[in-house]
Amino acid sequence: MGGRDEVDKWVVRSEAGKGETFGEIAERSLSRRAFLKSASLTSMAVVAALAVGTEPAAAQRAPLGLRFQPIAPTAPDVDDLVVPDGYFARTLIRWGEPLAADVPAHNVWAQTPALQARQFGYNCDFVGFLPLPLGSTNSNRGLLAVNHEYTNEELMFPGYDAKNPTRNQVDVGIEAHGVSVVEIQRAPDGNWSYVRDSPYNRRLTGTTPMRISGPAASHPWMKTVADPAGATVLGTLNNCAGGKTPWGTILTAEENFHQYFGNLQGLDADDPRYAAHRRYGMPAEQSERGWELYHDRFDVAKDPNEGFRFGWMVEFDPYDPNMVPVKRTTMGRFRHEAATIALAPSGQVVAYTGDDAQFEYVYKFVTRGRFNASNRQANMNMLDEGTLYVARFNDDGTGQWLPLVFGQGPLTPANGFADQADVLVKTRQAADAVGATKMDRPEDIETNPVNRKVYIVLTNNTRRGAEGQAGPDKANPRANNATGHIIELTETGNNHAATTFRWEIFLLAGRPEDPSTYFAGYDKSKVSPIGAPDNITFDLSGNMWIATDGAPRAIKLNDGFFAVPVAGTERGHVQQFFSSVAGSEVCGPEFTPDNRSLFLAIQHPGEGGTFEEPISTWPDRVGLPRPSVVYIGAWDSRPIGR
Ligand code: FEO
Ligand code: CA
Ligand code: CA
Repeated sequence: MGGRDEVDKWVVRSEAGKGETFGEIAERSLSRRAFLKSASLTSMAVVAALAVGTEPAAAQRAPLGLRFQPIAPTAPDVDDLVVPDGYFARTLIRWGEPLAADVPAHNVWAQTPALQARQFGYNCDFVGFLPLPLGSTNSNRGLLAVNHEYTNEELMFPGYDAKNPTRNQVDVGIEAHGVSVVEIQRAPDGNWSYVRDSPYNRRLTGTTPMRISGPAASHPWMKTVADPAGATVLGTLNNCAGGKTPWGTILTAEENFHQYFGNLQGLDADDPRYAAHRRYGMPAEQSERGWELYHDRFDVAKDPNEGFRFGWMVEFDPYDPNMVPVKRTTMGRFRHEAATIALAPSGQVVAYTGDDAQFEYVYKFVTRGRFNASNRQANMNMLDEGTLYVARFNDDGTGQWLPLVFGQGPLTPANGFADQADVLVKTRQAADAVGATKMDRPEDIETNPVNRKVYIVLTNNTRRGAEGQAGPDKANPRANNATGHIIELTETGNNHAATTFRWEIFLLAGRPEDPSTYFAGYDKSKVSPIGAPDNITFDLSGNMWIATDGAPRAIKLNDGFFAVPVAGTERGHVQQFFSSVAGSEVCGPEFTPDNRSLFLAIQHPGEGGTFEEPISTWPDRVGLPRPSVVYIGAWDSRPIGR
């Protein structure tokens, strides 16, 4: 292993100008004894301090604003990354790069499932930086956990025939899904590299054994011929966004899992599982990748239950490469996009997550137990007990979190719910029953550590207001919403465990000349065009940073990355910081703790082209486009955007 172990002093300035490290702030805010018991738990303590209301001094000020020269957007055929003057963007790791010393680099003419299972996966999405050592705030060395959402076989294999994939193509594709964990290190010049032979490096793929936990583990529909106990499932699929827990584990969200299961039409339409699968959008005929041609578990007619074992939130420990990942059924089953964790003043852990499909819902999960800052192990199964809620947005700017608890309200046998396991396996139907608000595709949901508000990204919904579909409402105010919007939600008492909230529209994205756009009231003549927001994050000052997915379609520009203050006179001033390459979306925005490096995942570069007729050659400039994680820094090492 290479790299340096020193822990950065992550300094924030108090009102009085006195510098304090986050460690010092945490020390003030927690029992000194508990803190000293485990010096390695500093980052957990920081999270606790932020969530329970002992705010660092920086949190008591307005955001400091942004100081970079915004870039001009690029046309969808431009195949270059663009950053502002004073910054550089470089590739950190690309699809196919080996994660062990004895693994060769990817060779398209000799690729095998076994090699792909030990190489960086395809279509990187969520990116989580976890400092090394565990519990530090080191910005120079850490683990990068990266989701691999899906595969573009037409770009991965020469002569790919979607109707007749080969066994090798199918099995490589399955291994190219999942998650990568890779150790990375930053050199003094700001350049990052990955450690090819690190013992932390790991792949989770579509075949990695995972434990099923929580109430739904015992549900009859979770049991298969291969797993009669309903306790173990092979793999995780369509891992989109995710989150980091205060105890240093990763949550990876299984999103569009339905697309991997074919032949629903082969299941008896009177079988109750038929309707359940239809509600989740499973295709009637051959699936997009045809995995069921070689693996019966992906054929719904042959194995009607395997599909119920996907659509969950998966937790794993990136610091322990031998840990068996766990599907936490308490957090519901739907097309999970995100998993953002916040702490309530009580110490209860709250996870915000959404169902990314048109007219689907926003959820949060609140644990029964409380976060233990001094005993990491005590938190490891915290997510197995708690309450799942779904959001109702009222037109008057108020809202409720409606519990999805068996026996409460309509969630009874009379309405088709036998027990809590049933409520969780059929989360969408339960949310329908309680009258939640149908949203314009909930993508990322993130909490702002400075103002503690919750931001919900609705990426688009072109069917809103179409014939036979729901029309606009106050929370989803545009018919044919092609460009998306962002809602700002304030929990009652700033308590993430509250069951009521207030909300308002923060942004209605689009080209600013579009009269339906809204930038929190900011002067539209000064903002950058932005379309289809997807993933967001916040810098140390609480400014929002937005990655987009779908701008080429929505506003005829390449996807990019944008910054916008959420407070003060600059609130709503959207400025473009980064533009991506042809055919790609931008994902996984993640700052190092010192904000001096930024990681972005460039997903599906060249989508729309084929292996034979590429529209992108990024990043190698020869041959295939390769989904990759890039890092961005300033030439003078200043924090990003400052
Ligand atoms: Fe995979 Fe919701 O984007
Ligand atoms: Ca997404
Ligand atoms: Ca998306």
